[in-house]
Amino acid sequence: MSQISRGLENVYIKTTSLTYIDGENGILRYGGYDIDDLVDHTTFEEVVYLMLYGDLPNKIQLQRIRVLLNEGYEIPQQVIDMIYGLPRDSDAVGMMETAFSALSSIYGSPWNKVTNRETAIKVIARASTVVTNVLRAKEGKKPRIPEPSDSFARSFLEASFNRTPSTEEVKAMDASLILYADHEVPASTTAALVTSSTLSDMYSCVVAALAALKGPLHGGAAEEAFKQFLEIGSPENTDQWFQKKIVEGKARLMGFGHRVYKTYDPRAKLFKRFAKQLSERNQEAKKYFEIAQKVEELGIQMFSQKHIFPNTDFYSGVVFYALGFPVYMFTSLFALSRTLGWTAHVIEYVEEQHRLIRPRALYVGPIRREVIPIELRG
Ligand code: CMC
Repeated sequence: MSQISRGLENVYIKTTSLTYIDGENGILRYGGYDIDDLVDHTTFEEVVYLMLYGDLPNKIQLQRIRVLLNEGYEIPQQVIDMIYGLPRDSDAVGMMETAFSALSSIYGSPWNKVTNRETAIKVIARASTVVTNVLRAKEGKKPRIPEPSDSFARSFLEASFNRTPSTEEVKAMDASLILYADHEVPASTTAALVTSSTLSDMYSCVVAALAALKGPLHGGAAEEAFKQFLEIGSPENTDQWFQKKIVEGKARLMGFGHRVYKTYDPRAKLFKRFAKQLSERNQEAKKYFEIAQKVEELGIQMFSQKHIFPNTDFYSGVVFYALGFPVYMFTSLFALSRTLGWTAHVIEYVEEQHRLIRPRALYVGPIRREVIPIELRG
């Protein structure tokens, strides 16, 4: 009897030099560098280089990445028009899928070892323009292309909100870009890999990944986690809400639990730090940070014996909210960062390990039946 691994748990589909996760001990490293170290001592652009070229850049290499990102922000007017042509209440990630489908029609090209990495950098820059304009379209603002700068995070925030962000905001955005940049092969990256295995183009891989990311059990969890805090409304209501909803109602606590981490997700610790910092200057965000802390305490009391702890999506929403993003944008912000991981993984797969991904399904239906003509069927 063939073995089925439900949810492909513990199935290895590739090797990788990109991301190492030790789920038992709560360790996450990109290319051998601890996530805390990267957040504290590098910028997203350096992590782009690390993921695509295998090590942290020197100053000249970093400058080259900045130039490529800055050059990549422009997208065709038709794609902007498509984003703005959708109803304003459309799903934000769905709007990204639409834009990336269009970009794949325009820019999709065959894989090429010489140009794959530059293509990936353009994909990341274009993702910034797409996400900015999804937000702007939904908020009824005019289109805007991120302007070249020495910080991808700053250009993105500036274009999103038409204002100069503070140094603290840029740092928090940059940290969030790093924290969500890759996580080995979750559902979205696997969807991208399946797509790349047919030698479809890189933009189409992003479309497939976006479709998989959207669900509440994956990228959608940050929105769902934050909606819990909105529903609770004030720190004093937390105990009652938790008792009714989680203890008695047996609802899943969103932002808790992980297939790989059986301890506190290291990304959650860092997001918590930035959530605390930003919420010190923002009363509304502070309220939600306090609620989140209380929910965390109760959640750990209830679930730690089952090895269920806060995951990356638990506090990221408080950071995004404090930066000024509406809740409906949280998954798109995750997607913007993860575009790096998706492209880096598909390049690694296509260049080094390529084979068509074609699993089997074990047939368990009737063995063989005769067709009875429709007139004779009861
Ligand atoms: N709240 C309550 N119970 C939970 C939770 C939770 N958040 N997560 C897992 N469980 C329980 C589940 O009820 C089951 O219990 P039992 O064995 O008694 O039936 C047990 O833990 C195993 O659950 P599972 O769904 O088989 O485990 P999984 O490895 O498939 O779960 C998960 C992973 C992320 C889908 C799950 O923990 C979950 O639904 N969490 C809430 C959604 C969420 O926060 N997702 C973000 C994941 S991290 C970001 C990302 O990778 O995109």
